[in-house]
Amino acid sequence: MTTPSSHWTLDPSVVHLNHGSFGAVPRTVQEVQRALREEMETNPDAWFRELPERVGRARAAVARFLRVPAEHTALVPNASAGVSTVLGSLALPPGGEVLLTDHAYGAVAMGTARAAERAGARVRTLHIPLEATAEEIVAVFEGALGEATALVVVDQITSATARLFPVAEIARLAHATGARVLVDGAHAPGMLADPVGLAGAADFWVGNLHKWCCAPRGTAALVARGADAQGLWPLTDSWGTPDPFPRRFDVQGTSDFTAWLAAPRSLEFIEETYGWDAARARMTKLAEVAQGLLADALGADLTPVGGCEAPSMRLVPLPAGLAADQEAAHSLQHRIAADTGCETAITTWDGRGFLRLSAHLYNTVSDYERLAEHLPGVLNA
Ligand SMILES: Cc1ncc(COP(=O)(O)O)c(C=O)c1O
Repeated sequence: MTTPSSHWTLDPSVVHLNHGSFGAVPRTVQEVQRALREEMETNPDAWFRELPERVGRARAAVARFLRVPAEHTALVPNASAGVSTVLGSLALPPGGEVLLTDHAYGAVAMGTARAAERAGARVRTLHIPLEATAEEIVAVFEGALGEATALVVVDQITSATARLFPVAEIARLAHATGARVLVDGAHAPGMLADPVGLAGAADFWVGNLHKWCCAPRGTAALVARGADAQGLWPLTDSWGTPDPFPRRFDVQGTSDFTAWLAAPRSLEFIEETYGWDAARARMTKLAEVAQGLLADALGADLTPVGGCEAPSMRLVPLPAGLAADQEAAHSLQHRIAADTGCETAITTWDGRGFLRLSAHLYNTVSDYERLAEHLPGVLNA
């Protein structure tokens, strides 16, 4: 059994090894959000009167954590909304091309295809081998960028394959051809110390606070600068419409925005309890140990996943034939949870199945030892 520290409210009868999908909210952050909800219910009129100013303060705290100016940072409900905001605001030229990779998050790829279709543009999906080095990834983009490229949508940390992509260099090359760049940094805040800085001159960057930063779900940031930023509008038109970016994002109709107001508490909590740099080092070390343990248990060859690995989310290849498509991956993930009590992520990419391991501050080596003990039996059943 895992014994998550008392800072979290995770069920101790379950081993939680899939932080990357939905995060986990520390107890103190839940308490802050609960208190905010209670305050909202004592006087909804006063609450909503003061809300834009409070959202502005929360936005400034998130921007400080991301090491970017608050004037460049808008809050959005999730990375999907941030990507949809950019795709919905940009005027893609008819006949133009949008570049994606075959590691893109499925929902982002579908949204990009829809935006391209609306504009009469086309999407080109670049194949990046799993074992590609940073130089090789950049070379794939270099070979594909051309006059027709209007937009590049690229992950900073990929979801199914847990790669760390060299997005600054990709952005530099894309700009040289006149293309705009949207970096999907859904997993980057918290896992990387300076995620927006590492995205270089990208025009748009989107990242979730509700994954590695442990903010309440429904909290993400959209960072944009320059003239393009003023062309961005929230998905919900509301009373902020006359305001400039990013203030127009501070008002997005009537909803529960307590997640945004509580998010700075999660940033403070990890700093005061662990220190962010120490937290990152601990998560990365644990992810490495976990990957080695599970690779040994499954007799897996890690060579193909040795290229650009994400710091605290690691892949272990599954035996050939397992989780070869999304449906098979989901059903295997459910079976592992039911049979071992371990919540994992089973991903599929290019017809191959992978165990994607996450390591967060509530995890210990014994969590992965338990999975290593029981997983071979499930896979061989
Ligand atoms: C790379 C990537 N992009 C986008 C998303 C979507 O995030 P959300 O569901 O918070 O919108 C995810 C979610 O895991 C992701 O991994």
